[in-house]
Amino acid sequence: MKDGFDREIDYLRVSLTERCNFSCVYCMPNGQDKKQCRDLLTESNYKQIIQIFRELGIDKIRFTGGEPLLSPHLENLIEFSKNLGIQDIAITSNGQGLSKNLIRLKEKGLKRVNISLDSLQEKRFKEITKNGEFSEIMASIVEAQKLGLKTKINCVLIKGINDDEIVDFLNLTEKCDIDIRFIELMPIGEGVKYEGVNPDVVLRSIPDVEYFSQQGSNTEGYYQKKGSSGRISLINPISCSFCDHCSRVRLTSRGTIKLCLHAKEEIDLTKYMTDSKILKEYIINSVLKKPEKHNMKESGTSSSEKYMYQIGG
Ligand code: 5AD
Ligand code: SF4
Repeated sequence: MKDGFDREIDYLRVSLTERCNFSCVYCMPNGQDKKQCRDLLTESNYKQIIQIFRELGIDKIRFTGGEPLLSPHLENLIEFSKNLGIQDIAITSNGQGLSKNLIRLKEKGLKRVNISLDSLQEKRFKEITKNGEFSEIMASIVEAQKLGLKTKINCVLIKGINDDEIVDFLNLTEKCDIDIRFIELMPIGEGVKYEGVNPDVVLRSIPDVEYFSQQGSNTEGYYQKKGSSGRISLINPISCSFCDHCSRVRLTSRGTIKLCLHAKEEIDLTKYMTDSKILKEYIINSVLKKPEKHNMKESGTSSSEKYMYQIGG
């Protein structure tokens, strides 16, 4: 399926819940009212929408949250996606309670896992996430790798909070065959209260690395220290806009489509759920309206009115 700018849209990100068992300082508002979480879609709603997107050419799907493990539908929807023939099935998780679920999720069709880890220091990790158990997250990373799932670590760098750990993360790639992605903090939700780290600063902190581009692939290039088995990559949604090659749309647990993470507009699918044919037409027409690009760099802020835990990154 193409959007209005001739971009091939083949990647669906599905948020399964707004709930999260962590409360990361840059993501969750303090004292978030859990009652305000409004997950509306049922499992059969998700299936109906995923099936339509599959018919329209989606071949990559990622389940997100909040925390997707808190949704009772995760396992079934992974299996459903696999049975539709979707090859690339991924989750983004905070890693808590993940290790013991991974075997089953893999059996159902899970291929890849992104796990968030913003600090390698146990005490600091707790301060950032509030409820995170560092050893549990590490166990999940180890287990995912043991099972042969493609595993990446997401680390959001924040000035004065964890930006002194860049070299520690790099050193981890010396010891383990692991992909670490430094994600630029986006001015969205609570993120506006913190200052991110410029990618040039990250690169200056890791001088002895070689760059490998991954041409022909949609994914970013990576940096590697000589003799290391692991890799570092930089995800810079603000400084370097990915918009030209954007292939994704997002489905929220409230039943809306977000065509761009940073746009205010959302398209409500719930009113068309009773008729799959009409819903499909509506989705095709909606995708044509995907914005060309965001203007976060110019405006310094995201136009999205949603928090990250409501969209799933
Ligand atoms: N900027 C960048 N990344 C963020 N995440 C949450 N909030 C922000 C933000 N403001 C990340 C989480 C997780 C992923 C789902 O999104 O750390 O890795
Ligand atoms: Fe942290 Fe992700 Fe949960 Fe937000 S959604 S509080 S970033 S674990």
